[in-house]
Amino acid sequence: MKNLTFISCLLVSGWLTGATAADKNQPIYKDAKAPIEDRVNDLVSKMTLEEKVFQLNQYTLGRNNNANNLGEEVKNLPATLGSVIYFDEDPELRNAAQKKAMEESRLGIPIIFGYDVIHGFRTVYPISLGQACSWNTALVEDACAVAAQESRMSGVDWTFSPMIDVARDGRWGRVAEGYGEDPYTNAAFSAASVRGYQGKNLADGKQVAACLKHYIGYGASEAGRDYVYTEISNQSLWDTYLPPYEAGVKAGAATLMSSFNDISGTPGSANHYIMTEILKNRWKHDGFIVSDWSAVPQLIEQGHAANRKEAARLAFNAGLEMDMMGHCYDKYMAELVKEGKISMAQVDDAVKRVLRLKFRLGLFDNPYTPKTTAKERFLLPQSLATAEKLAEETIVLLKNENNLLPLNTKNKPTIAVVGPLAKNRPELLGSWYGHGHAENVLPINEALNAEFAGKANLIYADGCDFDGNDTAKFNEALSAAQKADIILLCMGEKKSWSGENASRSIIELPAIQEQFIAEMKKAGKPMVLVLANGRPLGLSKVEPLCDAIVEMWQPGVPGGKPLAGVLSGRVNPSGKLSITFPRSTGQIPVYYNQRKSARPNSGKYQDIPSTPLYEFGHGLSYSTFNYGDIKLAKETIKRNEKIVVEVPVTNASKRDGAEVIHWFISDPFCTITRPVKELKHFEKQLIKAGDTYVFRFEIDPMRDLSFVDSDGKRFLENGEYFVTVKDKKVKFTIED
Ligand code: GLC
Repeated sequence: MKNLTFISCLLVSGWLTGATAADKNQPIYKDAKAPIEDRVNDLVSKMTLEEKVFQLNQYTLGRNNNANNLGEEVKNLPATLGSVIYFDEDPELRNAAQKKAMEESRLGIPIIFGYDVIHGFRTVYPISLGQACSWNTALVEDACAVAAQESRMSGVDWTFSPMIDVARDGRWGRVAEGYGEDPYTNAAFSAASVRGYQGKNLADGKQVAACLKHYIGYGASEAGRDYVYTEISNQSLWDTYLPPYEAGVKAGAATLMSSFNDISGTPGSANHYIMTEILKNRWKHDGFIVSDWSAVPQLIEQGHAANRKEAARLAFNAGLEMDMMGHCYDKYMAELVKEGKISMAQVDDAVKRVLRLKFRLGLFDNPYTPKTTAKERFLLPQSLATAEKLAEETIVLLKNENNLLPLNTKNKPTIAVVGPLAKNRPELLGSWYGHGHAENVLPINEALNAEFAGKANLIYADGCDFDGNDTAKFNEALSAAQKADIILLCMGEKKSWSGENASRSIIELPAIQEQFIAEMKKAGKPMVLVLANGRPLGLSKVEPLCDAIVEMWQPGVPGGKPLAGVLSGRVNPSGKLSITFPRSTGQIPVYYNQRKSARPNSGKYQDIPSTPLYEFGHGLSYSTFNYGDIKLAKETIKRNEKIVVEVPVTNASKRDGAEVIHWFISDPFCTITRPVKELKHFEKQLIKAGDTYVFRFEIDPMRDLSFVDSDGKRFLENGEYFVTVKDKKVKFTIED
């Protein structure tokens, strides 16, 4: 017995000693308790050049549905690969790939898996352009948190979102993906999205790393075409395009994605000024930049690189850390280092940035995604509720003649529901719909049947298709309209008409839809136009024919239910436009914060009014909100003094309603000319019927009144300023 005990003691002590020895011999980078920077430095010091290079490459895994960039499963994924775009919605394939990286590579460095989760993974919520119309950053943050949880539980650690390209040309299909025409709006939703995606702890298994894109100025694409030149002065770079990125970086965004576009002669993906000088040297960003898909070799098409090796050198030396599917870094980087054209120090810095995120995500300590069922991952009740609430708040009531809406159902009216979107599911998902399934979308007809059960008779007729020239079904729709008390026109766009590589030469509805609307007018009944679309539309021809117009954007899974709520009055619309609706394509670009004209009362088009059809911030409610006068705490303040401005808003109706107010500042004259007005704060409040709410904005002169020069230097000039809310405007002065 004694011997046995003795031997077992030896074994135990040996085990312990052995374990202790193993801990002692365990490299720091494998020690979950060691500080991340120590783990990063330790690991890089152990890596070969080849291993470092592969950390800076991203391939694809699984088959994707993006026709612009078809990714095939990489059968022989290199075990040392840094990243993968993951196209599956189940973690199994991902875990198999990860197992290879952890067990078949020398150092066991986990792969980071990315994917385009733009407005939802499976619980798809409204497109971003619509989200911005909610002016509810907290709700957008919640929606991003839903997307993050579904993504992470499905094997995705990193989303290529938020897209924060300021865009003012509706011909550009990707206007759907961002938060509209205004820098401040995009900045507010950039930060909210990052908070939602990343949460407080990237390693908690429910968050994903964010990726601010497309850095930078992609929204200025010439004539709204995609992948083309963008004329962006350094002044515009700083005052218009950079603010959303600065806000996202300040919110802690882990990564950025470099853009396709040529920025006034230097493509975004080879632009040292934006990727190194601004982002790294000035903003001290400690994450990394991934290229857009093949943006590195595309430097050749753009006439910036002679060949792929040159493209690799130019992009990497400009500050681009990771090559997405370009196969330039994997092929040429080692050679370029050996030739002294890329420094090993810069390679080490880039690899550290990638490894730092992998440690922060907990991928070294928990490389595998836990197995769960689809039911455990997707379409959870709370997720659906968040998506529905957001979809309700994105709806913008553009027109409501004689308060036609909400529909009066006292006498159980007959409603003719016509148009290509009346029974459609897939088109309501919008572009970049991730793993959204059409069968999860509630179509408008089913939503109306439920909402108006027992309250109205609903008759349906297609009438026309989205486009083409087939008028064969016009008559059937017209006869339905003649039997009805009200006509509900469900019109708009296919999801493929916006998003990437989806530019359109005109923003008007297709002729067949305009023709159909005119045909329905012949029934002589009140008409409600419902629009589901991914861009501002040119509505000048159809607007006069319709008594009410409801912009529902592309709502995702909630589908027609929020719309039905607005039509019945269950939902009081609160959305306000995040992008101007021009009268016609010819008016583009038209946006609220344009610079002033030398002759404000002339120089206009001869054939149309100079104002847009619907302005930035336009949106009607079923409530009536009366604005009092703006109250200034003081009329003259010092440069370092803050000033509170207030405006009382009364809900003079019998309906509770949410009101959004936008606080604009303007500087009537400045060393560098400024936009006619600039949004600097917004707030949304539910105001009960009959109540008054006092909205407050504390103006911090350096933050809210200053401007930037063409190298980003912020300056504040003394003198007059104005603050505007709706049509109210007050002046105050800044002095030393
Ligand atoms: C696409 C898009 C970009 C997306 C990337 C990966 O080309 O430009 O937004 O994140 O490729 O799919």
